[in-house]
Amino acid sequence: MKVLFVTPECAPWVKTGGLGDVSAALPAALAELGHDVRVLMPAYRSLAQLAKEGTQRLTLPAEGVWPAADLVRVNAEGFSLWLLDCPALFGLPGGPYGDEQGVDHASNAERFGLLSHVAARIASGASPWADWQADALHANDWPTGLAAAYLSRMPAPRARSLFTIHNLAFQGNFPLDRRAALDLPDEWMQVEGEGLLHWDRISMMKAALRHADVITTVSPTYAREIQQEALGFGMDGMLRARSASLHGILNGIDTRAWNPVSDTLIPARYGAGCLDDKAANKRALQAELGLSVKSRTPLFGVVSRLTDQKGIDLILDNLMWLLKQGTQLVVLGSGEPRYEQRLNEVAAEFPASVAVRTGFDERLAHTIEAGADVFLMPSRFEPCGLNQMYSQAYGTLPVVRATGGLADSVRDASEPDGTGFVFQEDSAQALRETLVRVLRLYQQPALWRGVQQRAMAQPFGWLQSAQRYAALYRQRTPVG
Ligand code: ADP
Ligand code: GLC
Repeated sequence: MKVLFVTPECAPWVKTGGLGDVSAALPAALAELGHDVRVLMPAYRSLAQLAKEGTQRLTLPAEGVWPAADLVRVNAEGFSLWLLDCPALFGLPGGPYGDEQGVDHASNAERFGLLSHVAARIASGASPWADWQADALHANDWPTGLAAAYLSRMPAPRARSLFTIHNLAFQGNFPLDRRAALDLPDEWMQVEGEGLLHWDRISMMKAALRHADVITTVSPTYAREIQQEALGFGMDGMLRARSASLHGILNGIDTRAWNPVSDTLIPARYGAGCLDDKAANKRALQAELGLSVKSRTPLFGVVSRLTDQKGIDLILDNLMWLLKQGTQLVVLGSGEPRYEQRLNEVAAEFPASVAVRTGFDERLAHTIEAGADVFLMPSRFEPCGLNQMYSQAYGTLPVVRATGGLADSVRDASEPDGTGFVFQEDSAQALRETLVRVLRLYQQPALWRGVQQRAMAQPFGWLQSAQRYAALYRQRTPVG
């Protein structure tokens, strides 16, 4: 099957979170199953060099509201990448979504409108290629939300469309005056029917939920949660109406990149059979970050966007207590200034016990997964979450709240087949009670090791999930 996979980020080139990882690993897994997958992504400024190395360049002339843009073919990291090169829109300084200060790019509607429009073109009879006709268009998150809608108006033959919700909290809602720039027809400028209006805004997320043949999200539990008001972010009614076309498929992890046996980013490699070698990573991590180097001090790790979603406040509320228990904490992350500031204050006061690094650092993320004893992920909501799976693969026991993909991928150590620690209630007290259990089990090394070994044996690869996507690519559901 021929699949066009359109995404705003793809590791290792562009990554702000889990979508970057998924956009690399899922196409690779599909290719291993024998499918012909092309990944389409903008040629952001940081990709200028990669775009220069392209093997083919095809110009799409300006058309109506859409500016001219080039498609640049790059063969890299084992798969086929198409970069959408339009310097006026994608050559801006900063990240994929915002400038260097984190303020959203003012042209985001036009930027991601163009990405979606080009994806729709390639997936239709208006494709610039005579020799490659997509069977399925797989779009991801709000920046590609208009793709299925535009596709519905393209000339036949049209690919089937599948849209994956990686996070319903980010919806790409824009003011009504973007209508002309996005070339939206009358029928879409309503709340009901084919409409993509959401509270007097043009919603790219809603466009996808209305028009994609199939909707998926990244865990079975999150698929249920977003159909309820509490986590539906105003779209739960629409999702309930489409529940027959909505599927939860748990993400996998890229076992080539995240495997302690072969990981070249960590100081010492180890496996379930040689867990003693994990200790060298702990020593190296403590030394690198200026913590006191002590093998029997429980070391907690966090690698995360520092936002409300991730329950960072629950960690902060327990931090002094954790320090009183004689533990250490390492945090790598960036996000809301109030969290960065508070964490940095505590690190400055207790430098031998708390280390905080802000910014994005792939190597340090791997080293924390390998060196910490426990990984904290008390998310308020979590569509899937990858770090709790990386942690298990590295024998670093995760502490998670029972929500979304966390509930689907971690079993509590009180169960015979437990692989981590799970708590229910969204409260600092519930986390505290779990931390008490963590520290108690840590004092029983033989039991701890048993949980580590079970965690490391979890089959978190992509194969099964990729097979489920491939089956869904064959489905077409009329828009109701
Ligand atoms: P989300 O996509 O909601 O941020 P996930 O758990 O799905 O959460 O994925 C987060 C990904 O981003 C993981 O691969 C994690 O290691 C990585 N990550 C998050 N923050 C950082 C950081 N500051 N430095 C390096 N990697 C990070
Ligand atoms: C989103 C979610 C995260 C998920 C990732 C990849 O960023 O917040 O839970 O793992 O997408 O699907």
